[in-house]
Amino acid sequence: MEIKKDFSLKLHNTFGLDVKAKQYIAVTSTEEIKHILKRFYASELFILSGGSNILLTKDLEKTVVHLQSQGKELIEENENQVRIRVQAGENWHQFVLWCIEQNYGGLENLSLIPGCVGTSPIQNIGAYGVELKDVFHSCKAIHVQSVNEEEFTKADCQFGYRNSIFKNKVKGQYIITSVDFLLTKKNHQLKTGYGAIQEELSKPAYHGEVSIKTISEAVIAIRKSKLPNPKEIGNSGSFFKNPIVDLSYLAFIQKKYPEVPFYQIDEKQVKIPAGWLIEKAGFKGMRKNDAGVHKKQALVLVNYGNATGQEILNIAHQIQKTIQKEFNIQLEAEVNII
Ligand code: EPU
Repeated sequence: MEIKKDFSLKLHNTFGLDVKAKQYIAVTSTEEIKHILKRFYASELFILSGGSNILLTKDLEKTVVHLQSQGKELIEENENQVRIRVQAGENWHQFVLWCIEQNYGGLENLSLIPGCVGTSPIQNIGAYGVELKDVFHSCKAIHVQSVNEEEFTKADCQFGYRNSIFKNKVKGQYIITSVDFLLTKKNHQLKTGYGAIQEELSKPAYHGEVSIKTISEAVIAIRKSKLPNPKEIGNSGSFFKNPIVDLSYLAFIQKKYPEVPFYQIDEKQVKIPAGWLIEKAGFKGMRKNDAGVHKKQALVLVNYGNATGQEILNIAHQIQKTIQKEFNIQLEAEVNII
């Protein structure tokens, strides 16, 4: 394991921010992680995975541990299902494509999400009507103090909307080393209910075929049409969570904006798209220097080249302040601000 000093993280965060780490170590196995945890105090370390859900606002006076473990392993299978163990450093989208090639169903709606497998449970990644928890079996994680590897079942993880125990009760206490997925081998549960998927699949290019492969292709096409490719324009996907409000509050907003979109969560609450609120507040497409709000999806903050994390954070704060004032809603960042 080579320790690099004053290492630029520009290529290792999808916002493309040129922030330096005091030290940087790439690790490729659980043994290497354990070795580092025994050598450093946990408080001296910063654990980096795909870098797709962080906004780095300053240089890191820590040792960055970059998780790069690779590997997929079939743990068990029967006629209908397969359980696959995937190492934390595997690229998420490449793993999804591999599953589709094997005809393993369950992850197709989660195509083209940036990041790595190991961080997927932390915020229970979700898109187009599917969340990670729907296919999650368990994960292994090392406790940073005891350096023991422990197993977390689905119930242990306490998954919620963009939420899990790893963001709450045990935040910063564990490093996830592998994730087990339960996937279907036949009778796949195809989920096309999310508006845009059906519309996309009805295009002639799909020849009326509805399968895990075409759903993945449709999701990729939809995402490409509205979300900026981090390789071209730095971004971290949705910057904020969609706020959850009571039905009575929705009715209040509807008086002024009868067209407000919403997703029903239960009999009492709905989620309002933060992108819609931000657009209504006039921020869509705004730009200050190289920091801005994406033209096609107001929920995505972008770095056009040389923005600093602080400039992006300033826009985020300005958005939060305005939405609070105009809608009396507190937008919560989905991205981790460092
Ligand atoms: N909308 C606007 N203006 C905008 C953006 C959106 O009016 O600038 C409206 C749309 O017209 C639509 C609604 O908001 O009626 C929802 O938009 P969209 O379907 O694009 O989804 P979203 O709620 O903005 C969520 C996830 C995305 C995920 C999509 C699809 C969150 C915070 N974001 O976005 O996740 O891909 O649904 O399932 O829940 C991510 O987490 O990084 C991410 C991209």
